[in-house]
Amino acid sequence: MPRRIYLDHAATTPVDPEVVQAMLPYFSERFGNASSLHRFGREAHEALEAARRSVAELIGAEEREIVFTSGGTESDNLAIKGLVLAQGKKPGGPHVVTSRVEHPAVLESCRYLESLGFQVEYLPVNREGLVDLAMLEKAISPATVLVTIQHANNEIGTVQPLEEIGEIAREKGVLFHTDAVQSVGKIPVDVKRMNVNMLSLSSHKIHGPKGVGALYVQGNLAPMPLLHGGGHEKNLRSGTENIPGIVGLGKAAELAAQRMEKDRKYLTGLRDRLIRGILEGLPKSWLNGHPTQRLPHNAHFGFAGIEGEALILGLDEKGIAASTGSACSSKKSEPSHILRALGLNDVEARGSLRLTLGRENTEEEVDYAVEAVCEVVCRLREMSPLWEEPIIKRQLT
Ligand SMILES: Cc1ncc(COP(=O)(O)O)c(C=O)c1O
Repeated sequence: MPRRIYLDHAATTPVDPEVVQAMLPYFSERFGNASSLHRFGREAHEALEAARRSVAELIGAEEREIVFTSGGTESDNLAIKGLVLAQGKKPGGPHVVTSRVEHPAVLESCRYLESLGFQVEYLPVNREGLVDLAMLEKAISPATVLVTIQHANNEIGTVQPLEEIGEIAREKGVLFHTDAVQSVGKIPVDVKRMNVNMLSLSSHKIHGPKGVGALYVQGNLAPMPLLHGGGHEKNLRSGTENIPGIVGLGKAAELAAQRMEKDRKYLTGLRDRLIRGILEGLPKSWLNGHPTQRLPHNAHFGFAGIEGEALILGLDEKGIAASTGSACSSKKSEPSHILRALGLNDVEARGSLRLTLGRENTEEEVDYAVEAVCEVVCRLREMSPLWEEPIIKRQLT
């Protein structure tokens, strides 16, 4: 069997075998509808509520504050569109403050609101991906109804100072939503300590199944539902609950809470080994994102003189699954809006590589990946008209 090393955990993670085991009965003998009154229904309902407890515990929320959704995208949409539409108009035009480095689920929700006549301010970030807190304070006006700023970035891994952002929003009397899809389960998240009013998370980023997520909605906040129907999830998200998926998310949340500290230390060690190896091995290479305020499993590089897509294909031939971080859904390959927001020019943004680690990766795999990246980058540079420097050749052992 050819070697396969998965280094794309920011895209998705393998489902933990314990999660699979927890889900299985809910496809077969415990298949009930959680709204039914009979025993099958009660079993499903109990499983739903147990999962709600696990998710709530992971982020320091109350059980009643967790709404299950179909994933991070839906959670972001429900939080942003739902909250703003529920607030209605304010004098001076209702206003949302966000950042330029958000995931498309946030940016496109904001653009939709703009199409309805709402105002949105997209805050810039510095070279390391951090939002300027003074600018945030200045951007909030009496018309502002919502601040939505991510916890951690999906490409470059920069972690925003959420507590301080939450404090600013609280002092100004503005609601604060955060997209924590990349951070939940990886670093501590506590919605009360962070002054967060709504928080999005997704199961498939924490070794749970795809197509399920949750939105934390503080206390009695009532965003307008996007899906109307039977009134499930306290009328915030109608539709028969995806019990196997929700059970999977609950188990994944429980495992994440148990393993977070150990995983965090382990992944930080692997990440730093990877970063050291690649930056020392290749001239004209740099780390994108913040050097320390970054996710424990994220390493994002820039390489002069190459195209990221060619590097991904070269690594794939060596059995390594990686990402450019500039993946876009259209066929037209445009540089990532996140890298552009850092101030990188088109050429710098194109030569990028995101490697995101998981608990199943080993030091030996990291060393293999370092060698492979150095070899493929050198090979691409030799062929590249953009590269004229003398290069250090390295052979894969
Ligand atoms: C930061 C962030 N927000 C939202 C999403 C969307 O989550 P989902 O895939 O569960 O819809 C992702 C997934 O890549 C993400 O990284």
